[in-house]
Amino acid sequence: MGINKQNMEVLKFAALLHDIGKIGIRDEVLLKNGPFTPEERAEMNTHPVKTKTILDKFRFSKVLQEVPEIAAYHHEKINGQGYPNGLTGDRLPLGSKIMAVADVFDALTSRRDYPKHVSGETLDRDPMPLAKAISILEDEAGSHFAPDVVAAFLRCLPRVLLLHRGDHFPPEYVDDTIRSLAPDLLP
Ligand SMILES: [Fe+2]
Repeated sequence: MGINKQNMEVLKFAALLHDIGKIGIRDEVLLKNGPFTPEERAEMNTHPVKTKTILDKFRFSKVLQEVPEIAAYHHEKINGQGYPNGLTGDRLPLGSKIMAVADVFDALTSRRDYPKHVSGETLDRDPMPLAKAISILEDEAGSHFAPDVVAAFLRCLPRVLLLHRGDHFPPEYVDDTIRSLAPDLLP
């Protein structure tokens, strides 16, 4: 997406630290297995603000000054329906839009030690089929996600799946998708 080296570094730190605010969510909410009450949802949704509060206390070097802000907006949606600020796409940093796609994809395709909450829904702890995760990203391009970010993500996806095939992703989980998106990549 034409991101320079410095902004890649910002994105890397923002991505590593984006959920640090969850340390301020009570365990009975964070680890709850089952749907949230409105009050619990509201508490859970404070985590990006807590992330920002914590990261604002970090002494980032000058080049990393934007890390707290980029991390704080990882649950914003380009249609303004996200949280905590309800910012629309034109007000969101590219790094936050990239993290939004990456975070949801990771939530949908990884096994989690605690329940997954995506778009207000509590999902199974196990990964969903890859084709389904991809179609969710495609369906929400233009509402939740920036279309150019989803396009770039899908462009990179076969190579990324291949890179993590056998460590993060079992081969049987990714092979059909790699074959359908980039038939020449697999032997
Ligand atoms: Fe989060």
